[in-house]
Amino acid sequence: MAQYFRKNGVIYGMTKQGKIVYGGLRALERELRKEEWRDARYTIIVDENTFQHCLPLLIGTVEALQEAEFVEVPVGEECKSIEVAAQVWQTLMEGGADRQSVIVNLGGGAVCDLGGFVAAGYKRGIRHINVPTTLLAMVDAAIGGKTAIDFGGVKNSIGHFYPSVMTVVEPAFLETLPQQELLNGQLEMVKTAAVCDSTLYGRLLAERDIRSADIKEVARIKARVVKADPYDCSIRKILNFGHTFGHAIEVYTSVPHGVAVGIGMQAAMYLSVKKLGLAEELYNSYCRWLHNLVTPPHYTLKDVEQMLPLMHQDKKSTAGVLRCVLLQDLGAAVIDVEVSDHEVRDAMLKLAR
Ligand SMILES: NC(=O)c1ccc[n+]([C@@H]2O[C@H](COP(=O)([O-])OP(=O)(O)OC[C@H]3O[C@@H](n4cnc5c(N)ncnc54)[C@H](O)[C@@H]3O)[C@@H](O)[C@H]2O)c1
Ligand SMILES: [Zn+2]
Repeated sequence: MAQYFRKNGVIYGMTKQGKIVYGGLRALERELRKEEWRDARYTIIVDENTFQHCLPLLIGTVEALQEAEFVEVPVGEECKSIEVAAQVWQTLMEGGADRQSVIVNLGGGAVCDLGGFVAAGYKRGIRHINVPTTLLAMVDAAIGGKTAIDFGGVKNSIGHFYPSVMTVVEPAFLETLPQQELLNGQLEMVKTAAVCDSTLYGRLLAERDIRSADIKEVARIKARVVKADPYDCSIRKILNFGHTFGHAIEVYTSVPHGVAVGIGMQAAMYLSVKKLGLAEELYNSYCRWLHNLVTPPHYTLKDVEQMLPLMHQDKKSTAGVLRCVLLQDLGAAVIDVEVSDHEVRDAMLKLAR
């Protein structure tokens, strides 16, 4: 049933967030035997990698999906286009997909974003299930109902809030994931822990390997934050920690998203020490941990000047003033902290080699 809440005089309809299935594919197998799925016809969206590495495990474990159609889309960001969405809609129509049809997104954040977008539009909305296969998607992209494609040269510019009915967390998929992709997800996990849970944060920095229990814990936290603020108007913004700086570094230096966010978190922690009294030792220990995994970027003040407009384009900047998420302490984030260009230059130069 729809619920509503009010923010700045605007009323937003609130759709129910889907459930997170922490028991992996075996739990999905049990779910899809339930009465509510009796008439479902499934279409699985894969990319070349998940077709090869993940589809056999999915259909080998979940009987209801053995007869499913599947559609292969281009790998990575390439699939998040209106042309690819139209091709999937075409395939669904030609296959006679109706309102009982269900899309299963088997892939990373890109496939989940595209598949959610396709599901939201087809016959005014059909059900979709996210089966994330990258670490980043398991703990972030596949949870929270944001769907998107890239349009007009702008990433995620067209999309909806359209939650999947289920997100299935199955860490077994990570066995074939390249190291670089694991690192991306690991850095986003640390980000979520930094703003929400100091104990988990300490554990993530201390552990050598990424444990299934931690993946599920971070997924739980994301689900909790999203439930409290499904439309990204208030508390959900804490998940943007490190992203104002991270996005600019990602665009300017072409490092992968998670890595850029990891570096952006260093800048945000530095400003947190200066502006909100975060303990300096927390900043220092984060730097030590990060620099074991990531080489600091190489740039000069001139580069920072070119990155500044990128940060101002960010949706968190209003009336020419940057607003960032900073930390008073681990697990105690503050949103919309005003940061001057002078402070940004100072923090960004601290990051460079
Ligand atoms: N909707 C949201 O809330 C949200 C949040 C964060 C990010 N995103 C989006 O997510 C996307 C990034 O997601 P991502 O980091 O998962 O990248 P991705 O989806 O591009 O996947 C990364 C790579 O890993 C491959 N891959 C996936 N699973 C594999 C497996 N198990 N074994 C081997 N290879 C595998 C993919 O084919 C791809 O080459 C971006 O488009 C971003 O905008 C969305
Ligand atoms: Zn991110």
